[in-house]
This record gives sequence, C-alpha cells and structure tokens, in this order.
Amino acid sequence: MKDFRPQAHRLADWIADYLENPERFPVLSRARPGQIRDALPADAPEQGEAFDAIFADFERIILPGVTHWNHPGFFAYFAITSSAPGILAEFLAAALNQQAMLWRTSPAATELEAVALDWLRKLIGLPGGFEGVIYDTASVSTLHALAAAREAAVPDVRAKGLAGRTEVGGVRVYCGEHAHTSVDKAVILLGLGHDALTRIPADAEFRMRPDRLAEAIAGDRAAGRLPIAVIATVGSTSSTSVDPVDEIAAICTRESVWLHVDAAYAGVAAMVPGYEWILRGAERADSLVVNPHKWLFTPFDLSALYCRRMDVLRQAFALTPEYLKTSEGDAGVRNLMDTGIQLGRRFRALKLWMIMRHFGAAGLRGHLAEHMRLARLFASWVDASDRFERIAPVPFSVVCFRLRGEATDADHQRILDTINGSGEIFLSHTKLDGRFALRLAIGNLHTTERHVARAWELLTSAARA
Ligand SMILES: Cc1ncc(COP(=O)(O)O)c(C=O)c1O
Repeated sequence: MKDFRPQAHRLADWIADYLENPERFPVLSRARPGQIRDALPADAPEQGEAFDAIFADFERIILPGVTHWNHPGFFAYFAITSSAPGILAEFLAAALNQQAMLWRTSPAATELEAVALDWLRKLIGLPGGFEGVIYDTASVSTLHALAAAREAAVPDVRAKGLAGRTEVGGVRVYCGEHAHTSVDKAVILLGLGHDALTRIPADAEFRMRPDRLAEAIAGDRAAGRLPIAVIATVGSTSSTSVDPVDEIAAICTRESVWLHVDAAYAGVAAMVPGYEWILRGAERADSLVVNPHKWLFTPFDLSALYCRRMDVLRQAFALTPEYLKTSEGDAGVRNLMDTGIQLGRRFRALKLWMIMRHFGAAGLRGHLAEHMRLARLFASWVDASDRFERIAPVPFSVVCFRLRGEATDADHQRILDTINGSGEIFLSHTKLDGRFALRLAIGNLHTTERHVARAWELLTSAARA
C-alpha cells in the first residue's frame, strides 16, 4: 500500500472524531436483514482498488449496518467500552502481528500476558497461587476450565475419552439456575452430554442455593455418578446476582469437586473498595474467569482465565510436535500453545497492559464506582415511580424492572421497540421468574447522568403512550 501513511493519518482522525462523538450515529443499526449483503458485489474484485474507494464504501455500506456498542446510549446486554488506549494497542498489535504460540515466537506477548494478568489478579484480590491465561471469550475460558476439571477427575480421559467407560460412572457438572449458557455449551462440547449438567435452583434473589447443591451432589454420589465440577456465578447475565461463592467453595472442597467461578462481567468490581466480598471464597476456587472486554474498557475480545491448577490444564492440552520443539522448552519458559486448544495466540495482553497503565488502578476503580452510582440512581427513579417496579437487587451496574400491574410481554415489547427506534438509547430484556424484565446496563465510559436521565425520560413517555 503506497499511501499507507496518509491513510493511517486519515483513519486516526476518523477514529478520534468517532470517539468524541459517537452520538451522531443511531446506537442501534437501522439496517434491514440482507441490506449489507445485497449492497456488496458477489465476487472479490479481480484488480486491487484504491483505499479511497474502499473507505467510501465502508462509510456508505458498512457503517449503516453497525450497532454502536461504543455509544453512551448503549444500555443493552452488558454495556462495554473500546477505550482509546485499547484502540491504540490494537492498532499496534495488528502491525506487529505477533503469533505467540511459543515463547520464542513472541517473548514480549508471552511475558507481558503474565505481567498484565498478575496486575489484574492483584487488583481483584485473588491470591498468588492463581496463574492467568488470556483467551478470546468467557465461553472459551469456561470450556478450558471444565476440560481441566474433567482431566482432574478422570486422569486417563485424554487417552481414553469417556465413551463407553462404565467404570467412570455418569459424570456430573452443576451450575445455578441463572448461570450463562456457555456452561451448557462447554458440557456439550466436552462430550459429557447436556444431561450431565444439573441447574441448581436459586433463592428469591436469583443466587444459587448451596443447600440444594449439596443435596444434588449427595444424590448423584448415592446413584454412583461422578460429580466433577461446580460453576458459581458472580454477576449472573440476567440480574447480575452473586452466588454465595464461600459456601459453594466449602462444599466443593469437602467433595473434592473442581470449582470454577464465572465472574465474566462483575469480577472487576472486586477492585472497588466495599466490593471485595463478591469474590470471598474464590481464593479456594480452582479457576475463575473475568472479562476485561466486558467492564474494563478493553476492545473486544479479551477474557482472562485464572487457574490454581494450571498444571492440570496443561496436562489436558499440551502436545508438542517436532517442529515446535525449542531449546528454551527446558528452561522454564511458558509456551502459550500449551494452555489450550488453539496453537496461535494473538497479542491481546498489549491492550490490557496499556489500559491499566493509562487509567491507573484509581482511575479504573473510579469509573466502575461511577457506573454503579448511576445504576443506583436509575434504580431510585424506578423505585419512586408509579409506572415501573424494580424486580431484582442492583449489586452492580444493571437494573431489571418492569411495568407495574398486569402488563403483558407485548406491552413491554412495544416499549422496547419505541425506545430502541429512537436511535438514542438501546435497551434489551430478559425474563426473571418467568416475567418479562426490561434491563438497563451501564458500562460505557462516556455514559453520563444525562444519558441515564434521557433513558428514563424515554421510558416514562413510552409507558404513558
Ligand atoms: C456471566 C457470563 N458468563 C459468560 C458470558 C459469555 O461471555 P463471552 O461472550 O465472553 O463468551 C457472559 C456473557 O454475557 C456472561 O454474562
């Protein structure tokens, strides 16, 4: 590319403008299904094209199909941020194109990953016995944690698998009623069968009930089955409830069952003074996942898995063909290819490191605390309202609420459609105890009280209509 330099400057300007004012775009894309595909040719061009032409089509065709996750009015699912230092790091990482399968193929990516994850570990108060590794998503982190749990419980599983192994007994995994479906997918993918997963009922505040967990494990043991893992959730997807990790850890220790803590969204809140309790007991977990790409201002994707038994994870996955053998192998260096299913690893640690340096621990804590303040403020408006009611506690930065009285799902859907059609605000929904719940999630760095107040104004006027 001959004109890389001017194009890079131009893109940097475009990105800076975008970050300064994402509100010039509707937060939720107004594209109709097929719009983007239909606007593009069916075949790749035979001859290369000028970047000006390519970028013009990016603005004309691609951008209208973008839902702006980096918009301060994005309150759906878990709101996230691609922060400026993270974007700069991604720019550099793409240029450096590190493939950190071996220490040798990127000493920097390998060692920076260990350092950045150690910083984050200390910030959220996990003890030193936990070693970290970066994957793309929490789904993949949890898959690896459960693969390690399977390895620990059935030591010859790597060689023999589980099919037809009557001597192993039916393997069992447990999670709360409100745990994320990534647990189901992991169980399916690991060949345990979906029926191997037992969802433990929750209490009135959507937290796993430890007494019911203990009963389920005892029942399975009595029936000759083999409990191998429990997943406790800190910040469940729908309501952000916090399972009692301490009590669950006591059961797992007693039963010698692997404990994995899914703190994908809320784990980072443990760094905020007053929120240390959310990970109480996690020091006894075998593994824990936290996603900086959810609530730590990190461009998608970056998920951190911490494991107290990384040797077991390596035992499950390490496999070194001749062409990947290196002399450093015996010198105690860590080769990232040993800690999972993928061989190649991209340089994700760079953005996490730059983000922690740019904001500093105090800055990160301050932003998280502010998001939680805004959520409490919004919750106070809901609580004072005669139209809406809150239907879950607000431990972090998500508020679940619904219309008071006998409103139907369709009534709620109409409100959502009205709000989301505004282009200013994007909200999503869930169901709690079978009831439709509107959900307002705060997590974007540029979201201010003004945006939250505007969401409330739009909601109350849609409810009136
Ligand atoms: C509690 C929890 N765990 C896991 C996930 C999956 O996250 P990822 O998209 O990183 O796989 C989510 C997604 O929202 C979640 O809320």
